Amino acid sequence: MTAAGSLPPRSAVVAGLGGALPDRVVTNEEIAARLDTSDEWIRTRTGIRERRQVAPGQSTVDLAEEAGRAALGDGRADAVVLATSTADQLCPATAPQVAARLGLGTALAFDVNAVCSGFVYALATAAGLIAGGIATRVLVIGADVFTSLIDPDDRTTVPIFGDGAGAVLLRAGEPGERGALGPFDLHSEGELAKLLWVEAGGAARRVSDDPKDRFMVMQGTAVYRHACARMAESSRAVLEQAGWMVGDVDRFVGHQANIRILQATAKQLGMPADAVVANIDRVGNTSAASIPLALADAVADGTLVPGHRVLLTAFGAGLTWGSTVLTWPSLP
Ligand code: UT7
Repeated sequence: MTAAGSLPPRSAVVAGLGGALPDRVVTNEEIAARLDTSDEWIRTRTGIRERRQVAPGQSTVDLAEEAGRAALGDGRADAVVLATSTADQLCPATAPQVAARLGLGTALAFDVNAVCSGFVYALATAAGLIAGGIATRVLVIGADVFTSLIDPDDRTTVPIFGDGAGAVLLRAGEPGERGALGPFDLHSEGELAKLLWVEAGGAARRVSDDPKDRFMVMQGTAVYRHACARMAESSRAVLEQAGWMVGDVDRFVGHQANIRILQATAKQLGMPADAVVANIDRVGNTSAASIPLALADAVADGTLVPGHRVLLTAFGAGLTWGSTVLTWPSLP
């Protein structure tokens, strides 16, 4: 019996999973043929062998639709929360177009922009919609076409970023059941926004004489340090809230920014290297798509199975970071 006016506790439970990648593979060799870099440097400094890139005319909506359809399966959703920082247009949001393409009628739909942390932020947003009784089945998509933000002549960003989308379907369920998300730990530090920054294109500076201002500029080494520290800190915080010990975690699914960041964070946490889920070698850094794509790959290759206790943690521009946990469910 709940008090008058209050809602029975409802958790967001993972009920579907899907990913989408563009067909075009960009290898390290292809990049090294036109920029001052090498396959060896990219592999040893980042762990990336190849990444994907959209075809001309292919966009964030296209990838989000494909991943969303895979996660939905035969099911429906009454809400779409789409994490992206590369929306097809500056205005409006991308999510309503994706909902329309998926035939979801007048489902509530909006974008969340927390860059590479966007998927974890979107999961938390969706969990709130479910807990508040505002939605019952939420399609959460992370989709980014980061190659649209990257200066094709910048050897410090070109090797790292790729395009993709991943999605989960969340349904209302019981706290404590397999697949139930949470707790969440989410943070930001806007004073450091310029560590990963696109100068022009937004309201502060719509146009610029210098085309370079439309591209993302990254202070890689500083971002690397913050990423390791914040992902470890947030992981510890969420584990403590969940009442889990580090040793309880079977799979550590971190934002795929750099294999060295994932390994260093796992080491700081005292987690065995084989708990780290990684697909960065094949997709690079796909920003908001990174975590659901890593989940989809891990399920496909049998690395992640029902019953595994999973820690998700992300870090990105903003700066933003955050984590959550769940016990992996059986999916259709
Ligand atoms: O999604 C969340 C946001 N992104 C991240 O989390 C990315 C975080 N940062 C990183 O992953 C790493 O900082 C990078 C992979 C970007 C760079 O690795 P690093 O070990 O921090 O290298 P560095 O920037 O300190 O550069 C080392 C050297 C420099 O040469 P000198 O000054 O030592 O002579 C660079 O000029 O490597 C040089 N360098 C390259 N050399 C060959 C930088 N980029 C390249 C390149 N190929 N592509």
